[in-house]
Amino acid sequence: MWKERVNKALRSSTGYQLTKVKSAAGARPPRRRDAAAKKSPMTIAEGWDTYARQRRAREGTGVGDVWSKPRRIGIDVDRAEDVVPYLDREIFTPFLGHSEVLLEIGPGAGRLTEVLLPKCDRLIAVDTSRAMIELLRERFADQDKIEYVLSKGRGLKRVSDASVDTAFSYGVFVHLQHWDIYNYLRELHRVLKPGGKALIQHSNTFSELGWREFRREVPRQLNKHKLHHSFIVNTPELMAEFVRRAGLEVEDQLTEVVRRDCITLIRKPA
Ligand SMILES: C[S@@+](CC[C@H](N)C(=O)[O-])C[C@H]1O[C@@H](n2cnc3c(N)ncnc32)[C@H](O)[C@@H]1O
Repeated sequence: MWKERVNKALRSSTGYQLTKVKSAAGARPPRRRDAAAKKSPMTIAEGWDTYARQRRAREGTGVGDVWSKPRRIGIDVDRAEDVVPYLDREIFTPFLGHSEVLLEIGPGAGRLTEVLLPKCDRLIAVDTSRAMIELLRERFADQDKIEYVLSKGRGLKRVSDASVDTAFSYGVFVHLQHWDIYNYLRELHRVLKPGGKALIQHSNTFSELGWREFRREVPRQLNKHKLHHSFIVNTPELMAEFVRRAGLEVEDQLTEVVRRDCITLIRKPA
């Protein structure tokens, strides 16, 4: 106590003090916030939200159309605007059919929601980005069959058990880490009705185009956490194993339609 009083007097007259003293309450001085923790990398969800906010000014509700580069993804059409109709014709319509309740994980600005809507009575759109959800709402302002769910990316908490006929996700699992992929598959097991199905597009790293995608990322990814836009390493075999371990069944795996990627068609046992 006496040291503190002497130091206080010295400090006010000379600016110096005798020794270092504990704070008045005897508590430790407040810890400086760890600079590294403050600069912690963006999560995948935050990265996409930032992307949507930045692109929105330039592209309006057309955010996402740039993802349709036929040569880069390995689709046999000439123009970017032919990609979605091609996917719809070749894969979505034959596999999805018509559902009472369709769940879309990561709809973004709705590039694919557009072709999913006529295939269902109700569509649950779950996305982690507030900005993407806003774009989706604007794009489908005249639709009353969409339920918008802003999620924290930790599962499908607002979706009830055994309530979904069909689940769909495109352009999302390519970016998710393996723990998230497995968690979503477990969640699909919970929310799908018995016999329900899911269509999930994911990376196929060792396809010719998948490998090109991987190599392109090497300089950007070195000594970093996974960037939100980088593809995760995945293969049809690895995905099939996760699907089975989540209690679901693999109905088919398509690697020739979008030659960079794999589309895994899944069933929940009846
Ligand atoms: C590349 S965009 C694809 C959007 C759309 N499916 C398409 O193909 O046009 C990825 C979307 O997934 C969303 N997303 C990222 N992580 C997610 C997560 N864990 N759960 C749900 N959505 C997520 C992003 O906010 C973004 O809207």
